Amino acid sequence: MTARTSDIEKAAGVLRAGGLVAFPTETVYGLGANAEDPAAVTRIFQVKGRPPSHPLIVHIGGAEHLGDWVEDVPATARLLAERFWPGPLTLVLRRGRRVPLEATGGLETVAVRVPDHPFALALLSAFGGGITAPSANRFGSVSPTTANHVRAELGDAVDFVLDGGPCEVGVESTIVDVTGEIPSVLRPGGVTREDLEAVLGCPLAVHATSRVRVPGQHPSHYAPRARVVLVEPEKVVAEAELAQELGHQVGVFLPPSFADAPVKAHAVVAVPGSMAAYARGLYGFLRELDQRGCDLIVASLPVEEGLGLAIANRLRRAAGPRASE
Ligand code: TXA
Ligand code: MG
Repeated sequence: MTARTSDIEKAAGVLRAGGLVAFPTETVYGLGANAEDPAAVTRIFQVKGRPPSHPLIVHIGGAEHLGDWVEDVPATARLLAERFWPGPLTLVLRRGRRVPLEATGGLETVAVRVPDHPFALALLSAFGGGITAPSANRFGSVSPTTANHVRAELGDAVDFVLDGGPCEVGVESTIVDVTGEIPSVLRPGGVTREDLEAVLGCPLAVHATSRVRVPGQHPSHYAPRARVVLVEPEKVVAEAELAQELGHQVGVFLPPSFADAPVKAHAVVAVPGSMAAYARGLYGFLRELDQRGCDLIVASLPVEEGLGLAIANRLRRAAGPRASE
């Protein structure tokens, strides 16, 4: 898919005029505004229904612009940026003066990334500035991985939707805090912990459950309407059939090792064996089961290695406080 120049120009014009543009990235669709326009940034929070204290990510066109948006660039940040940008990695650094406090939820740090999608890069280049953008969904719900997901969820609240096809990665970026002595992962995502550790040459702490450092991460995030119940892979079929017998409209995430198992449920998703394919499909599967009228989704967690770590994190958050049931 190639971007029409007229669409990119239109989107850049909307940003310049203080409007909101939904745009594709390699991870999920973002709801973008001019990062330096406090009024436009404030509108993002209104449209999403997101509390103003939850900081946003500033998207920039290349690693060479990082110094324009942050107070200083430590060697670790430079190394990670050079290796993983453009790509699904977000770095948390000390906020530069260009970034309004509206975008950081009042924090003196700022999250920055260079998205790896030709439309996003073309838009950043045409616009010329930074685009602050959360995922283009209502607060707490499942992130959009197609333009239709955005239209269905946000409709007229967005001034322009730039359609770049389905997102390649499918889960959000990995967030790494590089403000301290030792970098730490605040949210697992599209760049794996193993790849980060290989570049850094040391083990990385994953603080994905810390609510203090990542206020946007709390239980019942990335959640479909249906209740999500997590069980061991070998119990998925029995649990689903029991709930269906009890009168639920059950959606099943059938693990790859049980792909051929017959299961009496309302809707069945065969979970892909490849973690890349699972990540790419995850949010679409959750939306599909909602759309088909499921009120309960039975799933299991993948092995928490590689992209499996991010998938497991999203499933746990979709299940919310009931995850351990
Ligand atoms: O892949 C992605 O990261 C997508 C695409 C659109 O780039 N964006 C995304 O944005 O997932 P959002 O707003 O849904 O999630 C941003 C996360 C939140 O959990 C927020 O708390 C965290 O980034 N964050 C932003 N600024 C931060 C900061 N200064 N310190 C710690 N966490 C921060
Ligand atoms: Mg989000």
